Amino acid sequence: MNHSSREPLLSALARPRCIAVMTGAGVSAESGVPTFRGAGGLWNGHRAEELATPQGFARDPVLVWEFYDQRRRHLGTCTPNPAHLALARLEQRCDDFSLITQNVDGLHQAAGSRHVMELHGNIWQLSCTRGCGSVEDRRAPMPLPLPPRCHCSAVMRPAVVWFGESLSPSIFQAAAAAAARADLFMVVGTSSVIEPAASLARLALASGARVVEVNPEETPLSTLAHDVLREPAAAALSRLVGMEVT
Ligand code: OAD
Repeated sequence: MNHSSREPLLSALARPRCIAVMTGAGVSAESGVPTFRGAGGLWNGHRAEELATPQGFARDPVLVWEFYDQRRRHLGTCTPNPAHLALARLEQRCDDFSLITQNVDGLHQAAGSRHVMELHGNIWQLSCTRGCGSVEDRRAPMPLPLPPRCHCSAVMRPAVVWFGESLSPSIFQAAAAAAARADLFMVVGTSSVIEPAASLARLALASGARVVEVNPEETPLSTLAHDVLREPAAAALSRLVGMEVT
């Protein structure tokens, strides 16, 4: 905690009225899921423009699918950590609780969170690139040869948001509404550099929320947040949620 007192944060958690939480890759780091930036980050070893843009996919769908298939196989071995579990518990105790995530891994749902706003989509879903409207849940490893095909024969793509693409307007609007009405807005495990996701914390601040950042590293949000917990999400969230019930 870098600011003067924990009391306001603790009392906000003790009397939860309206809480919104936004998570990023760091919340899944302790489940063994690599983050995107920083040492060991996914975009360090790979060129994001080849693997996470519509242009890269149009150029080489097999290369992109090999990358996503490998990520899916690894994610299939990962399980929720105490940070995911603490957020699922908090949802049960708070009448107005919103969980907004930039993650595509589905680990919040696996931990028991019921209402998750997935700003960047879900890696376990595939969508048709021809626009027949088909979106399929497919957890099984991809059948060879890649890329997978839709029943309409078109190539399927991972149902995730790539660089240069728009977020789902309805999901972003719901997330913005949650940020605007929150008394407490927690930002957990994100570098807060990708827009428009990062703008939600600024919206919450402008709307009067107490903003708490949980991140071992400094981010552009750090100087704006009311409280900064410089520690891993699992320890911070399980302690905070545990404190809420004592
Ligand atoms: P980043 O990789 O940019 O940032 C991860 C953050 O997690 C960093 O600030 C780390 O300091 C922090 N972190 C690492 N371990 C942590 C831990 N145990 N507890 C808490 N925090 C920890 O990931 P995101 O901010 O999620 O988009 O990236 C945002 C978007 O950029 C992603 O959704 C993805 C990426 O390109 C798309 O793929 C569209």
